Amino acid sequence: MAELTWQPFGLTRDRRQVELWTLRAGRYAAQVLTYGGILRAFTVPAEEGERDIVLGCETLADYERQDKYLGALVGRVANRIGGAAFALNGTTYQLAANNGPNCLHGGLHGFHQAVWKAREEHGALVLTHVSPDGEEGFPGALWVQVTYTLTADGVLTLDYRGESTADTLCNLTNHSYFNLLGHASGSLAGQQIQVWADAITQTDATSVPTGVLLPVEGTPFDLRRPVDFLQGLAMTHPQLTLGNGYDHNFVLSRQPRAPMGLAARVTGGGLCLACYTTQPGLQLYTANYLDGTPGKGGVSYGPRSAFCLETQAWPDAIHHPDFPTVVLRAGESYRHTTAYRVTAV
Ligand code: BGC
Repeated sequence: MAELTWQPFGLTRDRRQVELWTLRAGRYAAQVLTYGGILRAFTVPAEEGERDIVLGCETLADYERQDKYLGALVGRVANRIGGAAFALNGTTYQLAANNGPNCLHGGLHGFHQAVWKAREEHGALVLTHVSPDGEEGFPGALWVQVTYTLTADGVLTLDYRGESTADTLCNLTNHSYFNLLGHASGSLAGQQIQVWADAITQTDATSVPTGVLLPVEGTPFDLRRPVDFLQGLAMTHPQLTLGNGYDHNFVLSRQPRAPMGLAARVTGGGLCLACYTTQPGLQLYTANYLDGTPGKGGVSYGPRSAFCLETQAWPDAIHHPDFPTVVLRAGESYRHTTAYRVTAV
């Protein structure tokens, strides 16, 4: 279990107080902000001593200015809801169209901007948040809890829970950008990715699934054996062009699974990052839209300088009855777990 400490991290523009929590276990450390539940840093033992492999901002003001979801917890519904509307129990709900015609990552003011309540419990950091009934257009008051755990063997676990007062949608993820050569390395060179998926959900020009499951065989999405990021990105495929790089949901399983399964593994810089999850999908995103985002220590983050492994339900599942459901019924419990394990290779 980790040793936890916290310090103030400033006030948001609307004067909400934010704390920076640090979890330390052995030679590993994780920094988590109560603003957005953001994973601000993940420091791991490396050849040079220690290395921070997660992108983040120096100040709270920088976090509030960027719109890239750096390190943040994302909800109520991570990824896209096509047409920014959905029907549930015969009622149509209108959402904010904040990404072309679609609703992305919970709408205009998603969980990435909430100030979560933090407490320590048995050497873990427990974050909770309540989203009021009707917020961002979604029905039901939704209580969510995300527990960050760090162990001395390099496993950072996020345990997600949710409960709603009315039937609603819930699909939570963490939007950390990783770079195994260090957050400031600036490129994906020298890193290989492997994903345990036979198919992706094919997307249209607005990155919403068409409903077709595209077999990865013979495409740049065949990551069943390790592929160098730069080689994969250099390949030609209409889906890669549409996403401006990897920005796709990989089909890990047809339904959520327990216990967690191995979803992805990235190696590089003498490190291996393995991602395990109960979730049926993994959005692999190669940071295609970072655009000089201000980062820690005065660096700025450009396109394709990191990768995100967003474990989640399949995008736009509410419009595809054959996708695993994202409906959370009143009184039922939402529960998912994702773990990132970083070791030396
Ligand atoms: C999406 C990208 C989007 C990014 C925002 C990812 O989860 O799939 O299309 O640009 O989040 O930072």
